[in-house]
Amino acid sequence: EDDAPRDCSAKRQRSDAKAPLTLPVTPSRYDAPFPFYRRPAQLGHFSLDAQRCYHGDARRLRYYAPPPVEGPSPGFDLRDGYRDRYVKQDETVREGLEHLLRWITQNRKQLQTEDKGRPLNADFVTWRGHLTKVLTTPYENQDGWLLAVSLFRGTLYISEVETEAARRQREQRTDLLKELMYMGYKFEQYMCSDTPDGTPDPTGVVNTNEAFCIVIRTRLGTHSLLFSGEVDCTDPRSPWPDPPSCYVELKTSKVMHSPAQRKSFYRHKMIKWWAQSFLPGVSRIVAGYRGPDGSIVELETFETMKIFQLIREDPGCWKPAVCMNFCAAFLGFVKKVVTEDNPKLVHLFAWEPGHPVSFTVHRDSEHTFLPDWYVEVLSN
Ligand code: A3P
Ligand code: MG
Ligand code: MG
Repeated sequence: EDDAPRDCSAKRQRSDAKAPLTLPVTPSRYDAPFPFYRRPAQLGHFSLDAQRCYHGDARRLRYYAPPPVEGPSPGFDLRDGYRDRYVKQDETVREGLEHLLRWITQNRKQLQTEDKGRPLNADFVTWRGHLTKVLTTPYENQDGWLLAVSLFRGTLYISEVETEAARRQREQRTDLLKELMYMGYKFEQYMCSDTPDGTPDPTGVVNTNEAFCIVIRTRLGTHSLLFSGEVDCTDPRSPWPDPPSCYVELKTSKVMHSPAQRKSFYRHKMIKWWAQSFLPGVSRIVAGYRGPDGSIVELETFETMKIFQLIREDPGCWKPAVCMNFCAAFLGFVKKVVTEDNPKLVHLFAWEPGHPVSFTVHRDSEHTFLPDWYVEVLSN
């Protein structure tokens, strides 16, 4: 009886050596040279229509159509239409990986390998937005995350679970915040047209169900990745005409009046913009700066690959290499922990600011996220 606890701790130590129980997030731990990141290749695309229905084509692709001269005051009113021309996506519907999985089943041939037991040639399948959250983790001090992981036929699937805090925030959003969210989409409408040579139509409805998503294949260190992400538009006159570098990410932010405000913007906001666009190889981010009345007072273009030059003068700023090294470490951690190939088994990786990443194991069906139809199609 006396031996039991000792036995138990010895066992835990043995399994610690194989798979650690937590992963640290401290930036200094990941302050090493930039890891290998293969140039992202676009494998395909799909669209989500006004009713949020999937289509395996580019019908929702829009074209970058900025006002004639980039400079001050294009005069866009981002509040226009908020009350009467806004169709909002139903955020209570949990889509999970469903649209991406549908694309995968419809494009299986180009993802196949020689290995019959592994139908997909990828270590990880996920949304770009989930990876963005992982990348920014070492510098995040507000929002935690929950990522569900299942290993199925040799591929690890990562799907986000909404945290309690995020659900509360979503349900208690102020009207001001709701309008600010609308304004981000309204900016897209002012900057995009439906045809390569068209002009934007700001009289239309803003419908946030609509999306054009690209599917990307790349490699981070030893991890091959397949992920999908929504892109705002393509520039038919891009200096880099091939996808995915032809896409332009549109963003809005409060107009800045001082170097201190710009420094804070680089530290806290630019990290998210950079991570979101760097992952899929989107080469440009166009910022619209909004004044207190909700109008755009200025536009500024950022080249994704040059953002590190803007921030490296500030020693207190985030480092791209830390973000990427942490992401590689997290994926390695997931590979070590999740080793049982079973689509019903879920490991829930959890992170809260100030803590390391930890996980829990769920054998019940409560957290299972790979749909039966997908498991069936990929089992044959
Ligand atoms: P901004 O980009 O101007 O902030 P995206 O930029 O990723 O294409 O998203 C378009 C808009 O959706 C954003 O505009 C913002 O208004 C809204 N949005 C996206 N993610 C959000 C989030 N996590 N919380 C609140 N709003 C979000
Ligand atoms: Mg977008
Ligand atoms: Mg955008």
